[in-house]
Amino acid sequence: MGAFDRERLAMLVQPDRVHRSVYSDPAIFELEMERVFGYAWLILGHESQVRHAGDYFTTRMGREPVIVVRHDDGSVRVLVNRCAHRGSMVCAEGRGNTERFVCPYHGWSYDRGGRLHAMPFESGYAGKLGELGLHAAPRVALYRGFIFASLAESGPSLEDFLGPACASFDDLVDRAPGGELEVTGGVFKHAYNGNWKLMLENHLDGAHPAWVHASSVAVARGAPDPGPPGEEHYYDIAVRQMRQNGAPDAVWEAVGVWTTRFGHGYLGDYHNDDRLVVGLGNPVFAEYHRMLAAKVGEAEAKRILGVTLWNSIIYPNCSFMSQFRQLRIVHPLAVDRSVVYTYSLRMKQAPPQMFRDTVAFANVVNGTASWVLTDDLEVYERVQRGFSSGAVEWLNIGRGHGRDVDEPDGTRRGGTGTSEIYIRAQMRVWLDYMTAGA
Ligand code: FES
Ligand SMILES: [Fe+2]
Repeated sequence: MGAFDRERLAMLVQPDRVHRSVYSDPAIFELEMERVFGYAWLILGHESQVRHAGDYFTTRMGREPVIVVRHDDGSVRVLVNRCAHRGSMVCAEGRGNTERFVCPYHGWSYDRGGRLHAMPFESGYAGKLGELGLHAAPRVALYRGFIFASLAESGPSLEDFLGPACASFDDLVDRAPGGELEVTGGVFKHAYNGNWKLMLENHLDGAHPAWVHASSVAVARGAPDPGPPGEEHYYDIAVRQMRQNGAPDAVWEAVGVWTTRFGHGYLGDYHNDDRLVVGLGNPVFAEYHRMLAAKVGEAEAKRILGVTLWNSIIYPNCSFMSQFRQLRIVHPLAVDRSVVYTYSLRMKQAPPQMFRDTVAFANVVNGTASWVLTDDLEVYERVQRGFSSGAVEWLNIGRGHGRDVDEPDGTRRGGTGTSEIYIRAQMRVWLDYMTAGA
């Protein structure tokens, strides 16, 4: 094969360093779209976005624009949003409900399964109707209400792919009384001038907040203390979160960070204040705890609320956080351009004020006007600019290398909380995807 045979690719990813071209070479990016995003399971959204027959939303699988739609038979279908005629995007809306998708160019229409339903001037195409339709992702599967699809005909099952990372979704869903979550308030999108991998490498990085977020830590330290339980202000979560980002090194080193075979990973919670996590003594949280216990029993409610995970990464396109019910999906646009879709999830059977915390967290941490996300975006762009320099070929991912620990549940844990084990795991599976079949 051509320039990127197995040996060449393997040279780029070494145990404790990665070649800059992995983040900056357009040819490698093209190969990733085919071999990573064209193969792996990709999370697309949540079933609450397509509750009824005909409900749909549009998103992306790598660079493929897709429509996720609830079919008449109740199944979820994923259709490539490209007309079988001359290639126009068929659906321009972000979401809606429809009987048929009608192409704006010449009016070909498709049913909810992507089958061609009708075309104007049909006699000119006599006999061909049955063969044409929207291309459908061959594999679609759900885990705990989250919709995944793969553009490959075969590969591991979704549950094998998720492996021990199923526990992160369980944590997210089990926290909802009755297990009911819904995407609320649409999708919030932001783009950055950097490679898609930079976001996934940032969200489990316990060594960065004290530096990247130093200015907001300083502001939060000078802000008035949050109110006592039950008398908090909307913005108190911001103050608590920003102060936590300035936690001492020992706190970060004590956080657990785990990885799985397919490059997923999750970070233990690093919050040690009396409540970032909507807990202890807050009357709304006490009511929520009571509602959860009414569904699952007190012992199980305690167990569920005792799980303290921070971000989870599902490689190659998702990051989510169960305690404030945030989910982010990264879509690669070009080697140095990515767009992130952010969703907020509401627990349907929890006190309404629990969602207020979700919205507050989304605004102060995940919004582009927040003091936290803006810092991360700035640093992604600086990193990407650094890669364009040819003077230095390698970047280092060696923090904690040689100290990774195998756990009985099949995960690997970093020897310390700031280990870069999760980047090493991501790069290992990247190489597997990129060289499969090579
Ligand atoms: S491109 Fe869609 S109908 Fe012609
Ligand atoms: Fe950050």
